Amino acid sequence: MTDMIVAIDGPAGSGKSSVSKATAARLGFDYLDTGAAYRALAWFALASSRDTADSQQVISLLVDFDYEIGTNPGEYYVRVGEDDVTEAIREPRVTAVVSDIARVPEVRAFVTALFRSIIRSSPAAGIIVEGRDITTVVAPDAPVRILLTASPEARMARRAAEVTTQTAEDVAAQLHKRDSADSRVVDFMTAAPGVTTLDSTDLDFEGTVRAVVDVINGGT
Ligand code: C5P
Repeated sequence: MTDMIVAIDGPAGSGKSSVSKATAARLGFDYLDTGAAYRALAWFALASSRDTADSQQVISLLVDFDYEIGTNPGEYYVRVGEDDVTEAIREPRVTAVVSDIARVPEVRAFVTALFRSIIRSSPAAGIIVEGRDITTVVAPDAPVRILLTASPEARMARRAAEVTTQTAEDVAAQLHKRDSADSRVVDFMTAAPGVTTLDSTDLDFEGTVRAVVDVINGGT
């Protein structure tokens, strides 16, 4: 088990996924995208024709949820059963319902146990774990904990550049709706005590990766 756990939380569009993955690749660390597990379960609920707004229907899926994620940043993948869902979990139809899934306490407990077991079995020198409740719930004792933020305008612009199948207005509306639904469940907009806030609004991608590496190396 690695002791070097780097916990990174932040809202959608803060750049945390791409920055975490690039930082992990640079340092030879593993990378765990926890949002992908919630997305994979949302994908599975849609594939199983469940009503995602009905928490009992969602909970009943957990027993058959056979999920696997690649933690090597160079070989990232997400699988549910036999299906490679790496791309599919980013589709707007999945993004639209993922907050329904994530607000169910039984789901959060289930995936949190999964994350802790993935962290424990990481063979790498370190692991970067990113999401919404990593610094506070999943790995509150991690030696490095970062809240990655950016202004709402910067977050909208980054998300709109990533998602090419929706208009910028639709992306902004979906992001706003998801932020407000998610923040009713977990506070990922303010740093918990001991967590380093890193504002990436005025940093480019490389600058953000460097800033994260500095925090990991104890430079900030
Ligand atoms: O990070 P990403 O945007 O892919 O996360 C997808 C969704 O998963 C979030 O909107 C949130 O509902 C949920 N999530 C969560 N806790 C985490 C990571 C993600 O509730 N640690």
